[in-house]
Amino acid sequence: MNRVLSSMSSGASLPPLPPMPAIAGDGIESNGLLSPRVQLALIIGAPVVLGTGLCLYYYYYRHKPDDKGSDRKGNSTKPKTIANNEPNLEDPLQRAIHVKNLGNKFFKDMKYREAIDCYTKAIRECPTNKEEELATFYQNRAACHEMLKMYEEVIDDCDKAVEHNKRYIKALVRRAKAYESLGDMSSALFNITAVCILEQFGNQPNLLMTDRLLREQSKLKAKALFRTRSPRLPSEHFIAHYFMSYSNDPILKSCEPKDIINHLETLRLKQNESNKSLQEFLLLNGTLEILKGNIESGEKELEKLINLDDCEIDIKVNALIKLGTIKVQEIGREDSFNLALECFERAIKLNDKNPDIYLHRAQIYLLSERVEDAYKDLELCCQLNDTFASAFAQKLYVQFRCGVRYNDDSTTNKALKGFETAIKKFSE
Ligand SMILES: *[C@@H]1O[C@H](CO)[C@@H](O)[C@H](O)[C@H]1NC(C)=O
Ligand SMILES: *[C@@H]1O[C@H](CO)[C@@H](O)[C@H](O)[C@H]1NC(C)=O
Ligand SMILES: *[C@@H]1O[C@H](CO)[C@@H](O)[C@H](O)[C@H]1NC(C)=O
Ligand SMILES: *[C@@H]1O[C@H](CO)[C@@H](O)[C@H](O)[C@H]1NC(C)=O
Ligand SMILES: *[C@@H]1O[C@H](CO)[C@@H](O)[C@H](O)[C@H]1NC(C)=O
Ligand SMILES: *[C@@H]1O[C@H](CO)[C@@H](O)[C@H](O)[C@H]1NC(C)=O
Repeated sequence: MNRVLSSMSSGASLPPLPPMPAIAGDGIESNGLLSPRVQLALIIGAPVVLGTGLCLYYYYYRHKPDDKGSDRKGNSTKPKTIANNEPNLEDPLQRAIHVKNLGNKFFKDMKYREAIDCYTKAIRECPTNKEEELATFYQNRAACHEMLKMYEEVIDDCDKAVEHNKRYIKALVRRAKAYESLGDMSSALFNITAVCILEQFGNQPNLLMTDRLLREQSKLKAKALFRTRSPRLPSEHFIAHYFMSYSNDPILKSCEPKDIINHLETLRLKQNESNKSLQEFLLLNGTLEILKGNIESGEKELEKLINLDDCEIDIKVNALIKLGTIKVQEIGREDSFNLALECFERAIKLNDKNPDIYLHRAQIYLLSERVEDAYKDLELCCQLNDTFASAFAQKLYVQFRCGVRYNDDSTTNKALKGFETAIKKFSE
């Protein structure tokens, strides 16, 4: 019982995880490992994505109007009239359900366009307060559009379905797949992460899709970020979320996440005013250089910063975390992993109570398949700050993946319980 978890907490060694599902094409080195730049994108991206996913989860649970999600197990409030063979066609809802059933027949016969017409009629007939039925009609129409490879329409229909039923997993999955078909990995990833969290990581195919997309997206992001020619910043949205994967970001003390890019100019002008301004400038400039893919100049700025005599501890710790993250991907250096760990060790010496150190070191451990160490760091991180959503999401994700991989239900269940506790705590 509880094999994986108990071995984690007792420090006994865990068998190495089976390799992640590989992705064909570039991003994979000849030795089968992810290329360093993809690794970096993965380290930067994973807490962002999972943290966002957890926020979405709160969103769904807080905003549920009542408990009637049609994908929930147990007693649903589905109208019994669906099974009724003699619909009362006076009633608009009955008429809507009747045409929907016709649509289902067309769908089975692969007559998708006819089916679409039926669902469109059903949507038109349906009283607007019948949220659950409307959601179903849109979802069914999305299924037809999917068969016709009309992915934009799939997304529109799924958006509508989710509007009417926030926790409609089928629609969320379908939308994620449509985004994937359109090559919009980042939207696909956000959507499928929300699904995994709604399903409490209990559905393996969707978990594998998350894994796959996480890597797929990291590859794309790495390509975009690290194009040698014109380095560009990722989207503001991504940057804002990246900063939120730090619970103690020194920059966010003086500016809002959405103003980060403009803040660089402010700090640049102020850098001579005080030592602190200079430090903040170097930190922000170094960070943005890294996000642009100018790894060397980002590294230079951060090195300059940590070598200042009077560098503030919080700022220095933050810079060391970021340096550690980029050290691990230094090309052609066998000791890059140890160099990275050294940065984290230095940070711990300065302040061993900063949860950010452990969240980000866990990413490095995960990349080298040191899952136990990663898990320990994530646990410590959550202990140090129990309202840190990115860290919670990561911890549960790691726990679940271990449980699922080793078929260890008690680990899986333990993570589920932790999840429920987290939800209760956060939704207060
Ligand atoms: C569904 O409702 C019935 C009657 O209200 C009840 O007996 C049954 O236990 C419920 N099932 C679930 C899974 O909640
Ligand atoms: C799905 O992705 C879209 C596009 O990125 C985003 O606007 C939406 O909030 C996502 N929804 C969920 C539930 O993840
Ligand atoms: C804990 O993390 C949250 C979310 O990042 C942050 O807002 C809060 O300030 C942190 N608390 C402490 C004590 O660091
Ligand atoms: C800061 O000071 C240096 C040297 O004193 C000077 O060269 C530089 O122009 C100043 N920068 C700003 C933004 O004032
Ligand atoms: C500011 O930095 C300079 C040079 O690093 C240092 O000599 C000075 O003591 C610092 N001032 C304060 C107030 O820390
Ligand atoms: C940020 O740092 C890089 C590398 O040191 C430098 O080239 C660039 O001019 C700096 N950015 C600003 C706004 O000063």
